[in-house]
Formats: sequence, structure tokens, C-alpha cells
Amino acid sequence: SQKGLKDYYANYFPIGVAVNPRMVQPGPDADLIKAQFSSLTPENAMKMGPIHPEEKRYFWKDADAIVDFAQQNKLLVRGHTLCWHNQTPRWFFTDSTGKQVTREVLLARMKQHITDVVGRYKGKIYAWDVVNEAVPDTSNAIYRKSKFYEIIGEDYIAKAFEYAHAADPSAQLFYNDYNTESASKRDKIYQLVKRLKDKGVPINGVGLQGHWSIYEPTKQEMEESINRFASLGLKVQITEMDMSVYPKEHERRERRDTDRSEFTSAMNDKQAAQYKMLFEVFRKHKDQLTGVTFWNLSDKYSWLDSFPVPNRKDFPLLFDQNYQPKKAFAEVVKF
Ligand code: G3I
Repeated sequence: SQKGLKDYYANYFPIGVAVNPRMVQPGPDADLIKAQFSSLTPENAMKMGPIHPEEKRYFWKDADAIVDFAQQNKLLVRGHTLCWHNQTPRWFFTDSTGKQVTREVLLARMKQHITDVVGRYKGKIYAWDVVNEAVPDTSNAIYRKSKFYEIIGEDYIAKAFEYAHAADPSAQLFYNDYNTESASKRDKIYQLVKRLKDKGVPINGVGLQGHWSIYEPTKQEMEESINRFASLGLKVQITEMDMSVYPKEHERRERRDTDRSEFTSAMNDKQAAQYKMLFEVFRKHKDQLTGVTFWNLSDKYSWLDSFPVPNRKDFPLLFDQNYQPKKAFAEVVKF
């Protein structure tokens, strides 16, 4: 049978994919995952809201399905994510009278959540995105003004890593973020993780999400990002790679009648060239990169189909809507 991505990259790093629990049921998704990938990341199933909807209730079914599939098929799993301002259920920050919780209460809840979730999958999840997107895109502030920051202070980040390490000392613990190729944000993330390292916080790596487009990043920006974080003695991973065929439009949230969900041959060529360049960089930096994970499996579905422009289909991955390898796939495996 045809070699998969994981075979071409067996001597470089694991190639992963973000999945939802339906994709690991028998069918074409599961077949493509098994043929091509050696690592899984739950797209949503292990986020705080989906897995811990009420203080006294966990929902393990979806996360268990993904971990069980990985165990059966000898796949690695990246846990995502233990502390994130998005999809944290409201109960985390509210006491029984409906008032905002104190620092002590929130720290205790974080500790319980992290201990329970990491503990359940101890030995089955080799890497965790412990804290996700704690650095804001704009402003000079290093810390996003999330509820975690407002109620606990900046040390919520160090605490999250310490709780995770205590729950599974063998797991590799990552700080994960996006737009890491923009120099200003990269410098703030660098300062954050350097502080953690200097304080002896058990952090092992930095996840560069890699939500890119066919127009960025440049080769130089990519190399600078990998080198910058590796220079701290941290592992580097690409954790959520996809490549929109549209120019970045952060502010646009509405669909215009000029929007066409069309994958033109020009887009196809540019996407193939961009994926080729990036994987040349990844292979060159194989001693600093310990994984490359795609965010979603094929163009059949991507979170980009509804973001930043609702109902504008995107074509960001290596496999098309019929699970066939695209032109970019050939460029990624031909070396
Ligand atoms: O499961 C509920 C469903 O019960 C409900 O009926 C439906 C309508 O409200 O919502 C469903 O939850 C949605 C969830 O995806 C599962 O489909 C949430 O609304 C929706 O916000 C959520 O979007 C996810 C987003 O993170 C926010 O968590 C995307 O699928 C996921 O691709 C995206 O992934 C993030 C990474 O975790 C972090 N980095 C950025 C990346 C892209 O935003």
C-alpha cells in the first residue's frame, strides 16, 4: 500500500492530526488517519468545557474514544488543552452564590481539573498543551487579561504546569500559541517562556500552532521562530497546521457576495509551493522539531470553513474533500 506521511517522516518527527470522536469510528476518516498519521490531538474533546461541564461532572466518553483508538493503533496523543480562556465553562469562575471565586478557590479548581484529566490518561498522552494562548495579539502586555489572569495573577501559568507535572511526571508540557511568526508576539511569548524556564517551572516545549495561509509565513520568519524557542533548550512543535487559501482578514466577520468558495489552480500551485518550503524548513530543523500536527484531516471539513468568514469554504489541508492527496501532498513527501 502507498506509504503515508508518517512513513516518509519516520526519521524526522511524528506527523499528527486533530480529530473529533466521530472520525475514529470505522470509516474513511479512520482509514486515512491510520494510513497517514502517527499522532492525534482531540480538536475539542479535552477542552475544559467539553470534558468538565460541571464542577462535579466529567464527560469522558469522547476523549476516551480518541485515546482508545490511539492505543489500539499505536498512535501518540497530544492532550489539548488544560488551561485556555476560550471554552472554559462559567462554573469555573463562579462560586455557589454566583459571585466570582477567589484566587484560592480558582487555583484549587484548576489543580483538581488538571490532576483528574492528566491523571486519567497518564502514560497514554505523551505531550500536553498545558496553557493555550495566554499572550494577547495586540498591546504590549505579555499576559492576556483572561479571568485566570484577573483572579489569580500571572502565576496561574506556572501553577498549571506544576499541577500537570505532578499528575504525570513523564508527560512533555507545552505552552501553545498562534501568530508566533509575528516578531512582536513572538518576542512576548519568548519572554513568557524564558521567565518560566528561569523560575524552574516544568515546561518542556513551545507549540507553534501554524494557522497560516498561502501568503505567510516567510522562510525567514519560520526559521527565526524555531531557532528562537529552541535556543531556550525547549522542544518546538507545529501543533495546529493548516494553510488558508485566502489572505488573512482578521477583522472581517461577514460574508460578501464576492466571496467564492473556489479552489483555483493558482491557489493549488501557491499552496503546494508554500507547503514545500515549510516542510523543507521543518526537515532542516528536525533536531529542534519534535512533531508536526495538522488541524483537521482533509478539506472535507476545517474550522476555517466558518472562521473568519462564515460559510466560506476553505481548502487548507493536504487531502481534498474526497480524501485524495492534493498537489501539496506530493511536494511534502518528495525529498
Ligand atoms: O459541541 C457543541 C454542540 O453541542 C453545540 O450544539 C454547538 C453549537 O453551539 O457547539 C458545539 O461546540 C462547538 C465546538 O467547536 C465543537 O464543534 C463550539 O461551539 C465551537 O466554538 C468549537 O470551535 C472550536 C474552537 O477551537 C473553539 O473551541 C473549533 O472546532 C476548533 O477547531 C478550534 O480550535 C482552536 C484550538 O483549540 C486552539 N487554537 C486555535 C484553534 C482554532 O480556533
